[in-house]
Amino acid sequence: MKPIQVGLLGIGTVGAGVFTVLERNQDEITRRAGRGIRINTVADLNVERAKELVKDHAQVVSDARAVINNPEIDIVVELIGGYGVAKDLVLEAIAAGKHVVTANKALIAVHGNEIFKAAHEKGVMVAFEAAVAGGIPIIKALREGLTANRIEWIAGIINGTTNFILSEMRDKGLDFATVLKEAQRLGYAEADPTFDIEGVDAAHKATIMSAIAFGIPMQFEKAHVEGITKLDAIDIKYAEQLGYRIKLLGIAKKTVTGVELRVHPTLIPTKRLIANVEGAMNAVQVFGDAVGTTLYYGKGAGSEPTASAVIADLVDITRLLGASPESRVPYLAFQPDAVRDIAVLPM
Ligand code: NDP
Ligand code: HSE
Repeated sequence: MKPIQVGLLGIGTVGAGVFTVLERNQDEITRRAGRGIRINTVADLNVERAKELVKDHAQVVSDARAVINNPEIDIVVELIGGYGVAKDLVLEAIAAGKHVVTANKALIAVHGNEIFKAAHEKGVMVAFEAAVAGGIPIIKALREGLTANRIEWIAGIINGTTNFILSEMRDKGLDFATVLKEAQRLGYAEADPTFDIEGVDAAHKATIMSAIAFGIPMQFEKAHVEGITKLDAIDIKYAEQLGYRIKLLGIAKKTVTGVELRVHPTLIPTKRLIANVEGAMNAVQVFGDAVGTTLYYGKGAGSEPTASAVIADLVDITRLLGASPESRVPYLAFQPDAVRDIAVLPM
């Protein structure tokens, strides 16, 4: 059978990881997907750098629309980032009947309702496992593994950059700016690192998890968002002396009147597992009424960990291509007609 043809929009940190892992693990991925998955064309502003990376394994173009309008392409993978051009390209890809995979949490949290509606109407799939907690399959866990549960709350370290900064400041006594630079060098930080350090990125991710866990629309604008920029080294030190560790947590919690959605630095007793999640690692705790507390841990950022999640989505979509649109609905964030209007509580 002819391999599935993929168009890659953006070959930066994550895109390069997708390319490398797809090549390296081709046999396993083909076996698991039931069909080969091939990157047909890559679009990137920096054509020369992209050509160096992909060699003669794929075509390289500078215009993303050349990928979207290419009738050979089955799945478009958006790895550009941001709400601007990425939104237009994703909506255009959907309108062209392409399935979409994205790692773009900003896009899904802010424009997800519109994107899923468009995808539902067109009968295409939009998958976004990499948008939350990098390589940890948390979307799959919420949607599939915990499907029997009423989820009561989710709380997690869901931003690798800030966790890396807090860990390095505590362990090595380094200053904030130096560690942030290192996080950028390692490919953890967003193009605009303000999103990381001000808690916005974690709020995007908490928003996405709340939509799946509670069956509500994306309501990012109602989240309480507080980052780590007001913390000093002395706060971290005093917390340690008192037996606590400071972590930036993203929290989504069901209450009798609605859903709480918040991101803020939190004091956690050092004996707790989650207090010992260090560096760019992420950890998400989910409480379901049947299962109790569950914990998911792994690399929350970086090239190949994130690529692992992007490729998992490619495999899922490939497996589902022959299925009826109705049975594909679970791959949307929620069924548009099944959304309950639960307000996210203001703080
Ligand atoms: P990068 O900035 O490393 O890569 C983005 C790439 O897209 C760059 O090569 C950029 O080119 C290119 N690009 C920009 N505009 C266009 C355009 N109009 N057409 C084609 N290409 C374009 O970002 P990342 O790989 O780090 O992140 C990609 C997405 O994945 C983001 O949404 C991010 O939030 C998400 N993500 C990132 C993780 C990480 O650890 N890095 C983890 C999880 C999710 P140029 O460099 O020339 O501007
Ligand atoms: N900037 C993000 C982080 C990338 O540091 O967690 C992963 O989503």
